[in-house]
Amino acid sequence: MSGRTERYGDVLFNHAAPNERACLDSLGAVLDPTTTDVLKAVPGQRGLRLLEVAAGTGTVARWMAVHFTEGRVTATELDTRFLHTHGHRNLTVQRHDVTRDGFPAACFDVIHARYLLSHLPSRARVLGDLVRWLAPGGTLMVEDPSLFSLRAARDDTYRRVSLGAVHVLRSRIGTDSDEWPTSLAERFTNRGLTDINLRVMVPTVSCGTPMAAFWKLTLEHLAPALVELPGINRSDILYTLDRMSLPGFVDLGMATYTVTGRKPANGLEGKECQHQ
Ligand SMILES: C[S@@+](CC[C@H](N)C(=O)[O-])C[C@H]1O[C@@H](n2cnc3c(N)ncnc32)[C@H](O)[C@@H]1O
Repeated sequence: MSGRTERYGDVLFNHAAPNERACLDSLGAVLDPTTTDVLKAVPGQRGLRLLEVAAGTGTVARWMAVHFTEGRVTATELDTRFLHTHGHRNLTVQRHDVTRDGFPAACFDVIHARYLLSHLPSRARVLGDLVRWLAPGGTLMVEDPSLFSLRAARDDTYRRVSLGAVHVLRSRIGTDSDEWPTSLAERFTNRGLTDINLRVMVPTVSCGTPMAAFWKLTLEHLAPALVELPGINRSDILYTLDRMSLPGFVDLGMATYTVTGRKPANGLEGKECQHQ
């Protein structure tokens, strides 16, 4: 059970924190290639309505605006300080708390939410909202981190410190990077979505990789909380940060589950599938 004490961004990962921008930039460098590869499969058409929820620094929103030139992209964020249109006329930025602020039903053809739902204690309800905001025939794409690859990491200290970071996120903000990502595809099916697709990506942590940059910044940010955990001390954290900078160190980073599904174009389509 989570003894959660704060929301994402209250203290941990507040956009005003030193290096938070750099951390989000390195996360984008890890994830954008897979995200955009999957989004390329969405047929572009005039007037396509796209929603990028919790857009962060907006790399995916801007890619959408360029790739779907005839579409309209709405990028939302709780904290919009890093999120700008950069002159894209088919891109709108909107401050929006996905746990409190709504959209009308069926008003988007594509909805993408990355590294968001796993951090929200109300994640299951918000997933239901995303499905409701999706128009019939529309595509939902959710991406969330999974700790399974960290459990399989070879280096004992790196593994303990990394799993410690996951523990801090669960206890402080209620992040679920265990059951939630692995159950996402099933949840899509249970919500009536069809054509479910799952892609799992495990990036490598080694000197100079985007995942090493992201994970170093994350561990540095969490270090004050990590040293409070039983079995982790300051030298374990320093060892882990050093190892990630050394040529020759190669281990597994946090995995990402990427799930897509389509809302049936008419009510019958999904029901027929459920009876197969
Ligand atoms: C790990 S970052 C991911 C950013 C972006 N989706 C990406 O993958 O690059 C999580 C983002 O979710 C935003 N966020 C957290 N809670 C939110 C909420 N309730 N509503 C909207 N955005 C939220 C944060 O401000 C942060 O930018």
